[in-house]
Amino acid sequence: SDLIAFGVRPDEKTFFEQYGKEHGHTIRLIPQALNRDNVGELKGYEGVCALESIFDEALLADIHANGTKYIALRSVGYDSVDENVAKQLGIKVSNSSYSPSSVAEFAVMLILMTMRKARQITRHSDIQDFSLNGLDGHQLSNSTVGIIGAGNIGATVARCLSGFGCEILAYDPYPNESLKNLVEYVELDELLRRSDVITLHTLYTGENYHMLGEREFNLMKNGVCLVNCARGELIDGHALIDALKSGKIMSAALDVVEGDQPLFNSNWNNKPIQDEIMRSLRSFPNVTITPHIAFYTANAVKEMVDHALDNLIEFMNTTEATNRVI
Ligand code: COI
Repeated sequence: SDLIAFGVRPDEKTFFEQYGKEHGHTIRLIPQALNRDNVGELKGYEGVCALESIFDEALLADIHANGTKYIALRSVGYDSVDENVAKQLGIKVSNSSYSPSSVAEFAVMLILMTMRKARQITRHSDIQDFSLNGLDGHQLSNSTVGIIGAGNIGATVARCLSGFGCEILAYDPYPNESLKNLVEYVELDELLRRSDVITLHTLYTGENYHMLGEREFNLMKNGVCLVNCARGELIDGHALIDALKSGKIMSAALDVVEGDQPLFNSNWNNKPIQDEIMRSLRSFPNVTITPHIAFYTANAVKEMVDHALDNLIEFMNTTEATNRVI
């Protein structure tokens, strides 16, 4: 085979096979994520299509030692790659720009779930408690939504929300002209002060580690709703727990949580969870946790595979790629 892909889930297989057939490539599909134990498989491959790997210094050095120069990620986020080390080794990386509606629609669902206390409603209903006690919600139409990060996904969230009649604020260092009729661009602190719901759609870069911490929670309105479909590391987990305990946060819905990597995408039923942040967050009835699944639609999965392979082939043919990020 002339191409190789790691971390291939069963539901991705047909998309890989279809792509290979249509573009005249044979692709070696490896279910395990690329790691230091299986990195030897890269010998003879100039590039690799990957998901679910942690590209730290040691793994990047092994990749380099095998003569592999290109990594085509199937994710949007590339926080899994140590950027400085990749640059030093001359390893180039591309990401995918699969359907932003997959994540955006999931975020809108979580926004509505937080505002209407959906988790509490279904919990009550599950035990045949059909009383209305404590289940009063809030209307999006009377609310201000703050979007942190208005790139492809954040912009799609803004467009989806535009029918609800809410006020939309956005914080992004690179304002997008096409959104100017839809959102009011503000500084982060102003967004935090004015929003009834806050939703995160920014890449995690290391520089924005814990961009929402104690100071930022203190700026927020009492009874704010918080949604995170981006990366857990953007929010200080301990500060978040404090804000839930104090009642500052009315409801939170988290598709990602700081330290979620070992937990999500596997079955922990009947196994104790050691992570203190996850244990604590799970104990709040007003916190909904979903397992990093916002991306997961058939349409997005096909595009993750197609975009990554397009970029991989582009790298191999021209040494550059449309979605190059490192
Ligand atoms: C991303 O695309 O950045 C995601 O978080 C999706 C996941 C499958 C890695």
